[in-house]
Amino acid sequence: MRNHLDPIPAKDIFNKLTIEDLNIKGKRVFIRADFNVPLDDNLIITDDRRIRSTLPTINYAIDEGAKVILSSHLGRPKGKVDPKFSLAPVAKRLKRLLNKEVIFAPDCIGGQVENLVSKMNNGDVLLLENLRFHPEEEKNDEEFARSLAKLADVYVNDAFGAAHRAHASITGITKYLPSAAGFLLKKEIEYLRGAIDNPIKPFVAILGGAKVSGKIGVLENLVGKVDKVIVGGGMAFTFIKAMGYEIGVSLVEDSMLETAERIRIKLKDNKIKFYLPVDCVIAEHTGPDNVIKIVPTQEIPKGWKAYDIGPASVKLFSEALQDAKTILWNGPMGMFEVDAFTRGTFDIARAVADAYAMTIVGGGDTDLAVHRAGVSNFITFISTGGGASLQLLEGKELPGIAALTNRED
Ligand code: 3PG
Repeated sequence: MRNHLDPIPAKDIFNKLTIEDLNIKGKRVFIRADFNVPLDDNLIITDDRRIRSTLPTINYAIDEGAKVILSSHLGRPKGKVDPKFSLAPVAKRLKRLLNKEVIFAPDCIGGQVENLVSKMNNGDVLLLENLRFHPEEEKNDEEFARSLAKLADVYVNDAFGAAHRAHASITGITKYLPSAAGFLLKKEIEYLRGAIDNPIKPFVAILGGAKVSGKIGVLENLVGKVDKVIVGGGMAFTFIKAMGYEIGVSLVEDSMLETAERIRIKLKDNKIKFYLPVDCVIAEHTGPDNVIKIVPTQEIPKGWKAYDIGPASVKLFSEALQDAKTILWNGPMGMFEVDAFTRGTFDIARAVADAYAMTIVGGGDTDLAVHRAGVSNFITFISTGGGASLQLLEGKELPGIAALTNRED
């Protein structure tokens, strides 16, 4: 029987080749990674988790004696060369993390790059410059995809964070090379698809963030799978307003009121327990001299805005997590970037981390929240994808996964 802390093995849910199915010894392996990391004004990487998450795939390829060609996008340079978006800082960081030389190519296609690749020895690592310096990357241009493919013998996609983009280095290139998933991509699928499609129950989903519209697809996909849904963050107020309550000037999507009410009723009809905040932290503004109050959700005064869930909601939500065996969390409970409104999100992060459950955290803001709360080591899996993880949770097929070569059993 499956232990509730183990994911479903990828081979049971996904019929694509993985890097271990390929013989890469002595071969030129093109690894598409997502090194789209945050940089400060001095171009120093402020968070290198996306680079570290790809190390198992890179190290495996080095150990197997492949010639490792790494590629990625960084930011949105709009098809033009812009030094602000150069991958040079990533080359430097990789060198340190791998403890070996990383050749940095001045471009991602063309004669000069081909020449550098031709001089590579087995086990060498080369990083190509930002793919998005060429407009053809995002246009999924065939000629550009062919030029990338020309550099290698096989293709490995480990760029989970970009797997929802049908770009040349994600889908186009797979027409020309045997194409497999890297370890990170595989792990993301095991947790985000496997654990959620076949969860060990009780399965509780916690959704937050500003907008209902961004999470509707996830909510719809969870009906029939989940036992409880907890909603916090700005999106909760669209549900609360739809139920007829005064929400002051709290965040609301008026165009989503009917949808929110429809979803609430659908969850109820499917006997899914649905939790909304019962109290909240309110203020008239977020400035330094703001006055903060904690009030029941049904008593938000006119002109006041909710910025966080209150202590009674934290207690209610934490109790709802008590018997969970699978927990999915996507979206913060409030404006946790501002000190006064961190409590709700951090308390929920601690409750999730303490639960005796498989705990899966969606990328982006929630990832940042569990790190700031200091509990990231106690979460079973934290996704490296923002948009990509949401699309997978919506049950959609990601182009970057669909394009990989099918496994023949
Ligand atoms: C991300 O940061 O979500 C991925 O790297 C994708 O980036 P994009 O939204 O610019 O395509």
